[in-house]
Amino acid sequence: MTAFRTLDQADVKGKRVLVRVDLNVPMENGRVTDATRIERVLPTIREISDKGGKVILLAHFGRPKGRDPKESLKPVAEAVSQHLGKTVAFADDCIGEAAANAVSSLKDGEVLLLENTRFHAGEEKNDPDFVKELAKLGDIYVNDAFSAAHRAHASTEGLARVLPGYAGRTMQAELDALTKGLEAPKRPVVAIVGGAKVSSKIDLLENLVTKVDALVIGGGMANTFVHATGLNVGKSLAEKDLAATAMRIIEKAREANCAIILPVDGVCAYEFKAGAHNHTYGIDAIPEDQMILDVGSQSVERINAAINDAATLVWNGPLGAFEIPPFDQGTVAAARHAAQRTKDGKLVSVAGGGDTVAALNHAGVTENFSYVSTAGGAFLEWLEGKALPGVEALRA
Ligand code: 3PG
Ligand code: MG
Repeated sequence: MTAFRTLDQADVKGKRVLVRVDLNVPMENGRVTDATRIERVLPTIREISDKGGKVILLAHFGRPKGRDPKESLKPVAEAVSQHLGKTVAFADDCIGEAAANAVSSLKDGEVLLLENTRFHAGEEKNDPDFVKELAKLGDIYVNDAFSAAHRAHASTEGLARVLPGYAGRTMQAELDALTKGLEAPKRPVVAIVGGAKVSSKIDLLENLVTKVDALVIGGGMANTFVHATGLNVGKSLAEKDLAATAMRIIEKAREANCAIILPVDGVCAYEFKAGAHNHTYGIDAIPEDQMILDVGSQSVERINAAINDAATLVWNGPLGAFEIPPFDQGTVAAARHAAQRTKDGKLVSVAGGGDTVAALNHAGVTENFSYVSTAGGAFLEWLEGKALPGVEALRA
């Protein structure tokens, strides 16, 4: 594995440092509702600022088609400033005169956020002219946005090709954790994959079975596998047209010596509703008129036993409908067990993906996992074994 240049190699004093961060944070009525991504990039901002660099933050927000005030980063600049405990200036364009003026008025150690890079079509097209416009504003480039590294955009990929590029501290921590999770893990490795649909995770499952020693499948997607093995899943969510795909994944796992762990029981209800009356059935006795909404306690026992056998755990996706209690119990129990094994020094645990972070937060264990990635799509693409353009461009 090629090493990355990090801030240890960067001479930032007096330099204009273009720092790509992921500030694509959830917002409601102009307020940030979850500041995790902001918190994650503070160490890099502080370090460059403390070393006397001029910090110029580049970020996208939402998926605007052209300039759209609803997708302005201005309120986010205020939030970053609050969390940083330091003024963050804002320029209402990321290129051109407004940006150049804001940059030239920066003193060493000061911080500036430029407006949403996606207000310009050149960002997503990775247009060389747009890259050039951005590059004019900086002397060096730091990428601290792993969660946007699956995009080959101007600010995530193009800039690393034209300016000296370095991984920021969060990018560095992320790459380090991911290497420990799958590329050079301590074995045995167990993966837990949950979530609603097999269709969105076919590539991921096919890659994982060749890399891990055991694969736990939970959530709605487990129903597709259960159905494929010839059992009845009643009214459960299941992609029955993917039975052949599920069987192919099971076959591939067998060839690769990867154990597949499917639920042996399911918590069932008549309706998808919080607090719905429910009962646990063996997986071969799911009633015709009910749906599986969570893994049952015997399945949790098997999952926990698999965690006990593992030195490394990679987790993506909840095991049940964790957003509607009591169908969160399977996910919570397994997450707490993994957290305890990690605390005891027995397990390296790496988790990621949007729903996964929400589920682990809900279980109250995020702090106890070895690493929880805030990346959604980028984490999935990494699990699929794909090269991430933003990461590749940083390789020294
Ligand atoms: C994310 O929120 O997952 C990243 O910021 C990437 O956003 P995108 O999916 O709009 O590229
Ligand atoms: Mg997204």
